[in-house]
Amino acid sequence: MNLKIFDSPEALAEAAADELFSCVKEKPASILCLATGDTPLKTYQILVDRSIANGLDFSSVHFVGLDEWVGVPSHNSGSCAYFLRRNLFDPLNIVEDRIHLFDAVSPDLNSACTKMDNLIAGLGGIDLMIVGIGMNGHVGFNEPGVSLELNCHVIELDEVTKDIGQKYFDERIQLEAGITLGFQNIMKAKKVILMANGLKKADIIKRMLEEPISERCPASILRKHQKSCTFLDSPAASKLSPVIARVSSSN
Ligand code: F6R
Repeated sequence: MNLKIFDSPEALAEAAADELFSCVKEKPASILCLATGDTPLKTYQILVDRSIANGLDFSSVHFVGLDEWVGVPSHNSGSCAYFLRRNLFDPLNIVEDRIHLFDAVSPDLNSACTKMDNLIAGLGGIDLMIVGIGMNGHVGFNEPGVSLELNCHVIELDEVTKDIGQKYFDERIQLEAGITLGFQNIMKAKKVILMANGLKKADIIKRMLEEPISERCPASILRKHQKSCTFLDSPAASKLSPVIARVSSSN
């Protein structure tokens, strides 16, 4: 796994946007899987602006959902679907048949999972994933203690996720479960970039990169991915031991 540390959150966002831009430029029919949340927001804004300015063609790109709050419909402004539509799909004019998100209000969530697994396999796998890291080390909704053997699945949310997840919603909401790609899906992606910024992520980033790899900090599993890269700004990297932080300058 590679590690890159950037001087500012803006430089971090630019670099992640570069990765997405280059991926689509090199392979116009890319399969992308993108996290929602505070961390990648600036990246998506840069990507949208740059793509429009340069006429980058997204018409052949497929977008695959990473996760969703179970029971939350896509028109709820706190849903992952809403975030992606507002910040990416609408400004880039992505057509419906290229958008493949979880149906988190389906009466049959297991079928929704199988459908997503089959879809990803049918598309030939994910080319690039941009993921964040939760304060508890989750990736998507792969919560601490998750089985690493899982494909798409429904999972009971960790207390930290339930609590922090409130930030996406206008009113307090009961968050109990998530539907998410599993580590079997994530580890098969051709490239995974995990982004983190800000001092508040420094402790979990230290755990991710320095503790023994374990499902207790799910993001640490990405260290086993051949083509994964962690993009940090300097506050998020500030608690890393010098020997780990130095890796970034040798890449
Ligand atoms: C959201 C997702 C989550 C977030 C994580 C970090 O689609 O997959 O795992 O990436 O909770 O969220 P922020 O970036 O808001 O700190």
